[in-house]
Amino acid sequence: MNRALPLTDDTFWVGVNDRETELFEALWPLAYGVSYNAYLIVDERVALIDAVKGHFLTEHLGKIQASLPAGKTVDYLVINHMEPDHTGAIQILRKAFPHLTLVGNKKTLDMLAAFYGVDQDCLEVADGDTLELGRHRLQFHLTPMLHWPETMMTLDTTTGVLFSGDAFGGFGAVEPGLFDDEADRELMEGEMLRYYTNIIARYSQMVQKGIQKVKNLTFRVLAPTHGLVWRKDPQRAISLYDVWSRQEGEPGVTVAYGSMYGNTQRLVEAAVRALVERGVPVAVHDLSRTHASHVVADIWRRQGLLLACPTYNTGLFPAMDDLLRLLENKMLRNKQVGILGSYAWSGGAVKAMRQFVDALHLELVEPVVEAKGAGTAQDLERCWELGVRLAEAVTRND
Ligand SMILES: Cc1cc2nc3c(=O)[nH]c(=O)nc-3n(C[C@H](O)[C@H](O)[C@H](O)COP(=O)(O)O)c2cc1C
Ligand SMILES: [Fe+2]
Ligand SMILES: [Fe+2]
Repeated sequence: MNRALPLTDDTFWVGVNDRETELFEALWPLAYGVSYNAYLIVDERVALIDAVKGHFLTEHLGKIQASLPAGKTVDYLVINHMEPDHTGAIQILRKAFPHLTLVGNKKTLDMLAAFYGVDQDCLEVADGDTLELGRHRLQFHLTPMLHWPETMMTLDTTTGVLFSGDAFGGFGAVEPGLFDDEADRELMEGEMLRYYTNIIARYSQMVQKGIQKVKNLTFRVLAPTHGLVWRKDPQRAISLYDVWSRQEGEPGVTVAYGSMYGNTQRLVEAAVRALVERGVPVAVHDLSRTHASHVVADIWRRQGLLLACPTYNTGLFPAMDDLLRLLENKMLRNKQVGILGSYAWSGGAVKAMRQFVDALHLELVEPVVEAKGAGTAQDLERCWELGVRLAEAVTRND
């Protein structure tokens, strides 16, 4: 998509789709790419709201220039978020538009100096401040730690477009459709959940604060820095972030397991069978095959969690260790958790999984089964029983 797309008669999407980066933040796979959304408001004075990753500058500049009426330049760059996926090309943008004033709050300007050595031509704004472009009036709303300390949102009070930064964003290039009413919503909402859980989730409490703030604003279009622009149903995006940040799970169970030789897997299968026979939705992830970004997203979605792995060098199977550290860092809450493990001599994995459940104040669903080797018929019976108990736990409030 090489055109600048209009959001209103004088506000244009001048963002780019990135299908080249394999791992966002060098960590999270981008099966459907990602977009860096930037917007141009053409008025007496022209404002660019956020920019793109440096690598995509040529395309970005082309779109800006295509939307600029003859004789006009860009007067302001509003930086809602300093992360380099939105500011990487700032030095070159300043050269391309020599009268450019960089607009950010105190923390943004501090980071601008640290990242790019830029401390000239800056305009500091505070919460609630406004900037007149002519017909358009921009109003700034600070949303600290959503997900960096400097993050803010910019509301165009004239057109009712809320530029929300990373908040309400998602993975997924917007080539098949920029707007919520023209895209594959199911796919994009799945990518939004993966973005939320992997990038934002640790700051879920700040998301709640951000949502309270947004509730007091009057807007009709929600325009984040990644993923869909919500012009038909912006409340949908907000309610998704609301549910995810409250950590309200659906009645179902996500199974995350590791198994080298199949012993743990057999235990898992017995528990899963009991769940399936009770009609409980189950997603099963082999941690050696599925990237953690998908597993974490699925764990976030559902109320129930079944963790299972063998003991490895007296502790957790490494892929499980990685997953639990991620979940700890994201401050997972409100889950009902079952635990299964296999060992050969000392054990240790089950103990570590229990410690994880205790440390995060999650609800342990019994029985916990720790089987020696392949386990006995009685062990498998207890795995089945765990499945039954988990089914009861996640359907308790239906
Ligand atoms: C590299 C390696 C290290 C292991 N370390 C331990 C250990 O420290 N303590 C223990 O009880 N079992 C240990 N085991 C044994 C496994 O936990 C046991 O074989 C288990 O049944 C494997 O389950 P799986 O078939 O699901 O992979 C180890 C196995 C391997 C391959
Ligand atoms: Fe970010
Ligand atoms: Fe971002």
